[in-house]
Amino acid sequence: MPSDPPLPIVRTVADLRARVAAWKGAGERIALVPTMGALHEGHLSLIRLARANAARVVASLFVNPTQFGPNEDFAAYPRDETRDAALLAKAGCDLLYAPGVTDMYPERFATAVTVRGVSEPLDGAARPGHFTGVATVVAKLLLQCGPDVAVFGEKDYQQLQVIRRLVVDLDIPVEVLGGPTARAQDGLALSSRNAYLTPEQRRAAPELYATLQAAAARLRAGEPVADVEVAARDRLMAAGFQRVDYVEARRPDDLARLGPGPIEGPARLLAAAVLGRARLIDNLEV
Ligand code: PAF
Repeated sequence: MPSDPPLPIVRTVADLRARVAAWKGAGERIALVPTMGALHEGHLSLIRLARANAARVVASLFVNPTQFGPNEDFAAYPRDETRDAALLAKAGCDLLYAPGVTDMYPERFATAVTVRGVSEPLDGAARPGHFTGVATVVAKLLLQCGPDVAVFGEKDYQQLQVIRRLVVDLDIPVEVLGGPTARAQDGLALSSRNAYLTPEQRRAAPELYATLQAAAARLRAGEPVADVEVAARDRLMAAGFQRVDYVEARRPDDLARLGPGPIEGPARLLAAAVLGRARLIDNLEV
């Protein structure tokens, strides 16, 4: 079989803009898929969704230091640009934008974008500063590339809602699309951080999704939110998770807290829990 042609890579905003301008000049619609690399099938499904919505697909690869806390895994985060570029080319990506840290954050860089409200609970509380790092880099990527559409995974559901708020509030002219969570056969949401799991932990990890499914069924049956949340937390601890940061049912758009009684409309169940070196997150529509 002939191999895929190598993916063109640009590393500066000027080169990125020149490529995008040429495509736009030819009347082509552009999609951007921001990533931090360590790509898996979940990312590739976002590339395919981008492909279905635009003539040209740009992926960015930037392990963004400002969204990692001081004790988080920035240094250990898996990096393999050659492998990622090959996977992107195969999935139908047209261009990889892979800036360096000093291109993105040159000396004297002093701006931060904070999205109040939706970024405050859940991961915002568990990982202080995380969503300011995400919002700042995503605002930059959108302004650097100027895509017609930008695609993000629903696995990072709170991040997706933060970005939706960001583009509306800052009048960034882009359509934001959420791609469904890709899962292993046993239900575990695909994540670059699954690589941190030992074989034993990997066997326990699908319990996160199973717990959310059971909790969603109980909410749909009319059980009180407060009881369902406590039972879900207990189930995760019993399954061997060392810490449960949250298992909560929230309003789907702004992630506002629901009352303790039965749900009265659509909700989103979100969870984050630690298993060994991996902090796993997942969510489910109710
Ligand atoms: O979801 C991610 O991989 C990152 O948070 C993103 C959106 C690429 C920003 O660094």
